[in-house]
Amino acid sequence: MLRVITSLSDIKQSIKIFKGNQVSIGFVPTMGALHEGHLSLVRQAKTENDRVVVSIFVNPLQFGKNEDFTQYPRTFDSDCELLSKEGVDIVFNPKAPEMYPDGFCTSVLLERLEDKLCGKSRPGHFRGVAVVVLKLFNLINPDIAYFGQKDFQQTVIMRRMVADLNLGVNIKVLPTIREIGGLALSSRNAYLGETEKKDAICLYKSLIKAQTMVNSGTKNFGEIKAEMEKIINNCKSAKIDYISIVNPETLEAVPEVHNGDVAALAVRIGKTRLIDNIILIFFIAIMFLSSYS
Ligand code: PAF
Repeated sequence: MLRVITSLSDIKQSIKIFKGNQVSIGFVPTMGALHEGHLSLVRQAKTENDRVVVSIFVNPLQFGKNEDFTQYPRTFDSDCELLSKEGVDIVFNPKAPEMYPDGFCTSVLLERLEDKLCGKSRPGHFRGVAVVVLKLFNLINPDIAYFGQKDFQQTVIMRRMVADLNLGVNIKVLPTIREIGGLALSSRNAYLGETEKKDAICLYKSLIKAQTMVNSGTKNFGEIKAEMEKIINNCKSAKIDYISIVNPETLEAVPEVHNGDVAALAVRIGKTRLIDNIILIFFIAIMFLSSYS
């Protein structure tokens, strides 16, 4: 049965009991407003662990002053219903004053990773993410933590933080779940009107264009970006924040694409900022792999 835990002492106590019984813990950190993307992580966690803990916490530290902290969708009761159906053991729903009591001033800075891509237009965002996830890891002590590829930069930062700080948590990144048409599932899709939702497909279309160009031998970032821009600029409600192709570990922009580099973008559709990405695979590499599979 699903247990909802809100206090830090209660979660520590429950985790102590799990650890005492030597059960493995899978952890899915979320901000709620759950969709199939989150549920795919939960399902994977269920298959790989004895117990599954999901956190639901809209983390104030990762929102900038003029961002959507107050509007962010909060659907706690329906989230719990979904998680209960999935057989989740614990929903951890801490309160901000207990997570960040008066005097809280610790930050986690991932130099060279946090200020790239989304970090440029969301200064401080990834510090907020790193702090909360580090706190959650300390409280929940998971064996495996699950993240979605849609938040690509976040996954890179999580892997780096775990390695740098010897946290001993296995980070698993699962594929982006998309609507028919390609729009990546996101809690923020709830902000989109009907026409905006149709327009938002341009993100995915531009990523597919990038992969198609790579398939036909184009490696130059400038050429690929120009084609991606054309697709997005064709949508009236779309305004590009960034389009980049980066090394998947360092997040350094690459002038020429290598196999496994990631094309990432952020685009405003009306007032809603959406992100998406694709791992660029060389056609030749696919052929090579399939001939050995
Ligand atoms: O991806 C999210 O929903 C959040 O950034 C996370 C990892 C739950 C931290 O608040």
